[in-house]
Amino acid sequence: MKVDVLLGLQWGDEGKGKIVDVFTPKYDIIARFQGGPNAGHTLEFNGQKHVLHTIPSGIFHPQTKNLIGNGVIIDPYIFKQEIEKLYASGIDPKVNLYVSKKAHLILPTHRLLDAVYENSLEGKKIGSTLKGIGPTYTDKVNRSGLRVGDASLENFEKKYNAKKENHLQIAEEYNFDLNDFTIDGKTFDEYEKCWLESLETLKLMKLVDSEHFINSALKKGETVLAEGAQGTMLDIDFGSYPFVTSSNTIVSGVCSGLGVAPQKIGRVFGVFKGYCTRVGNGPFPTELFDEIGEELRIAGHEFGSTTGRPRRCGWLDLPALKYAIMLNGVTDLIITKSDVMDEFETIQVCNEYKYGEQKIDYFPYEINDPKLQPIFKPIEGWKTNIAGFRKVHELPKNLMDYISYIEHQVAVPVSIISVGPDRNQTIFRF
Ligand code: GDP
Ligand code: IMO
Ligand code: MG
Repeated sequence: MKVDVLLGLQWGDEGKGKIVDVFTPKYDIIARFQGGPNAGHTLEFNGQKHVLHTIPSGIFHPQTKNLIGNGVIIDPYIFKQEIEKLYASGIDPKVNLYVSKKAHLILPTHRLLDAVYENSLEGKKIGSTLKGIGPTYTDKVNRSGLRVGDASLENFEKKYNAKKENHLQIAEEYNFDLNDFTIDGKTFDEYEKCWLESLETLKLMKLVDSEHFINSALKKGETVLAEGAQGTMLDIDFGSYPFVTSSNTIVSGVCSGLGVAPQKIGRVFGVFKGYCTRVGNGPFPTELFDEIGEELRIAGHEFGSTTGRPRRCGWLDLPALKYAIMLNGVTDLIITKSDVMDEFETIQVCNEYKYGEQKIDYFPYEINDPKLQPIFKPIEGWKTNIAGFRKVHELPKNLMDYISYIEHQVAVPVSIISVGPDRNQTIFRF
């Protein structure tokens, strides 16, 4: 069997969690392969809303195994909070959750360093979620990180303390006062105590050699869906660097983040919104600074699932979408949140950019350059409430024309149309 992949094609928050939940009954395993609790994946069903950060979005289906792969980084404190919420919703994650021993741990001092580094970037802040993502991946690449499997070793405490001291020394160089640092209203010492207790909860999970787990499942004919976090435009190599996250969010991250070979990759589902959003700083060519942007934010409830920050909103950017499709080898597109634009007379779509005197239809290196301006094509709105529709033939012609235009431009079919946040508000075209 092959590993299908579902990932975001924009700047994150495309609706990945919702679609993974919809797909889960078709798969034996759902596996996260990168990122950490910077992600916030929202699922809605039976009138209830659930937000997951580290745990894969298949967890509400007890018959499906959920794997946190080696490429993911885990904060035991946030992980424990997720586990407790699942128990409160009647789900026992001990039944179907598996965690890679090779996944790296986000230490309390990684979160501290994230804050220290952001503070030092006056005027150039990344807009990090401050979950310790950058510093943890830095230690991983630096070959000095601590992994889930290390937590059960005798010398763990010694290793932990050495790493902590090293981080505190760095923080000191930035004149950072530990007394100024709080997380969730806790001082560093209080937080560290909770973190160490939470590590015990993590150790009670099924800790596995995830590369063997997944490859033997594939050999047995089991079906696997890899769930991306963040989005292609936040990829460490191909995103709008340096305003990116610290992992490979694109399809190549599946190979390194789960230990599967490239020829084992099957279908690649790329999720995108009918417009664009971005949370945090960095270039966003189609951003709207007017009341239309505000309308999108309000109608789309565009406030971060992890940090609650307002998301920046803008029109669909086709050169960026084409770039994302190219990098991921997308086989199927999934459009979400078109319903947010139900009331709009006209919508705009960017099909090329103006760069100085030149027109270009690709995503360029100079993405940070203010000389790069979007060129928009107007599309007539559908002025119909689509949230209640469940069949393709019910959808308004102007929406289908918009979708056909996108398909024509990017040369990949839109296989699924999501018309609302609930599981049931999903229309399949295959
Ligand atoms: P993710 O990070 O990609 O999983 O996306 P988020 O959960 O952060 O943000 C997507 C938001 O849009 C969530 O609040 C979802 O419940 C919601 N959502 C997903 N699909 C749709 C849709 O088709 N229409 C509307 N109106 N909301 C949607
Ligand atoms: P999901 O999986 C949207 C953004 C942050 C910041 C940049 C770097 O829910 O789509 P980091 O904390 O990773 O160092 O922040 O990346 N970011 C996201 N934006 N959705 C996400 O995840 C994100 N994860 C990180 O806002 O701009
Ligand atoms: Mg999100």
